[in-house]
Amino acid sequence: MSALSKDAKVAVIGAGAMGAGIAQVAAQAGHPVKLYDNRPGAAAQAIDGIDRQLGRLVEKGKLGAEDRSAIVARLQPVEAIEALADSKLVIEAIVENLEVKRGLFQQLEALCGEDCVLASNTSSLSITSLAAGLKRPQQVVGMHFFNPAPLMALVEVVSGLATDPALSDSLYATSLAWGKKPVHTKSTPGFIVNRVARPFYAESLRLLQEGAADCATLDALMRDAGGFRMGAFELTDLIGHDVNYAVTCSVFAAYYGDFRFQPSLIQKELVDAGRLGRKSGRGFYDYAEDAERPQPANLSSTTNISTCVLEGDLGVAQPLVQRFKDAGIEITQRAGTGLLRVGDAVIALSDGRLASQRAKEDGLRNLVLIDLALDYTKASRLGISCSADTTPDALDQAVALLAKAGIAASRLSDSPGLAVLRTVAMLANEGADAVLQGVGSASDIDLAMRAGVNYPQGPLAWAGQIGIGNVLRVLDNLQAAYGEDRYRPSLLLRRLHAEGRAFHD
Ligand code: NAI
Repeated sequence: MSALSKDAKVAVIGAGAMGAGIAQVAAQAGHPVKLYDNRPGAAAQAIDGIDRQLGRLVEKGKLGAEDRSAIVARLQPVEAIEALADSKLVIEAIVENLEVKRGLFQQLEALCGEDCVLASNTSSLSITSLAAGLKRPQQVVGMHFFNPAPLMALVEVVSGLATDPALSDSLYATSLAWGKKPVHTKSTPGFIVNRVARPFYAESLRLLQEGAADCATLDALMRDAGGFRMGAFELTDLIGHDVNYAVTCSVFAAYYGDFRFQPSLIQKELVDAGRLGRKSGRGFYDYAEDAERPQPANLSSTTNISTCVLEGDLGVAQPLVQRFKDAGIEITQRAGTGLLRVGDAVIALSDGRLASQRAKEDGLRNLVLIDLALDYTKASRLGISCSADTTPDALDQAVALLAKAGIAASRLSDSPGLAVLRTVAMLANEGADAVLQGVGSASDIDLAMRAGVNYPQGPLAWAGQIGIGNVLRVLDNLQAAYGEDRYRPSLLLRRLHAEGRAFHD
């Protein structure tokens, strides 16, 4: 199905942060756009704002002055909803309230032509419910943009139960023509991004609550080892804890209290205290001008390491071996189960078991576990944890080995799956369940997480690199360690592993 033709009239309702951004995107793509807000003067004000934004692009040489004028000329503020009668596509970005949005769509159905598409930018309401009771529910669809809409590439094209599939295809093609990266998704709570992203926040929050490490250390691990742009604490401080906590609560409630989505008490405490993040001057971090930013905790060592013994291979962490060699360390290779022996220490990649449990079960002394990294050839930091019997000397030798390759070691208390590994395993688990339930394809889920929340890698492709069997083992071990349903592995992971297949096969 083809994209909406460029001369098709587009209407955007709601001239707030999202509506203004969406109107700009549509006008930049060449459509005549009418912008309407029920607050008098708001639409004209928003168009002035867009003009100023575009002016900045002209100053930076990213947009021609003529293009700026042409875009602004295509944007028309209107003060009465009746002026939208000739629209082919209406996108609403008004207040997040089901009754108000449904009432608006009823009004539009009576006003606009039969072929007019009614799209909602809602991030949490059901498209199926929005369409219910309308005369033409097949014409209702979700078009979920991300903030700021002109910059963020992702559009979730959301189909409700009644949505005409040809219409979803047409909006997908239209989003592409608008320079966006669209994905198809079903109208389920959180759609793709707001559902699959939950563990990114939840696992860091849980580690913090359990005293595994402090905020600065956990954030640094997610950045320097995980390759994420921000850790969960700095990101939720930026989003605002009221907003992030409300999304978690709404997804948790919508999935009937599934513990996979359980909100965090420590985030609730922040909300209750009014520590909403940057916007209130304080969240997990203090944003006062004179406040000192806490630094991640690094272990240091003055020991010089020159040799180590590799037994088997380190799996996904194997590129570390080349880094150690490049740092001048002599490595002796033996057969074995994926261990690196340096001095008294035995180093291994976490498999989701506690270090002390693994040491006991596998008969290992002085065990030091390392965390997952996105790219072991480049990671500047790794999380580590130790078994209870690990001596200070053995820990020091492991830290010294990492330091020699330019890797800072940040210690967590003995926590199953450390920080990055458990987070990525849980992101992949949620993505897998979303695929299993037909919410989106594996490639759309990966694309959504990269384009919508800037993940360095799609969680399902990442799971493929780690190995589906390894991810499954981590989740099984997490579930055994906590005894909680929260960590239950998705049936799809188990099925793919049993069949020897990957997500993208
Ligand atoms: P906002 O509060 O900045 O703007 C909403 C605008 O809609 C206001 O200008 C208001 O006057 C107008 N409005 C309210 N009721 C109206 C009505 N009945 N008729 C006409 N205009 C009306 O809100 P924001 O952040 O732009 O969000 C709008 C929608 O986009 C919501 O559904 C929200 O869930 C969704 N969304 C928000 C994102 C965000 O990051 N802010 C991201 C993605 C979706």
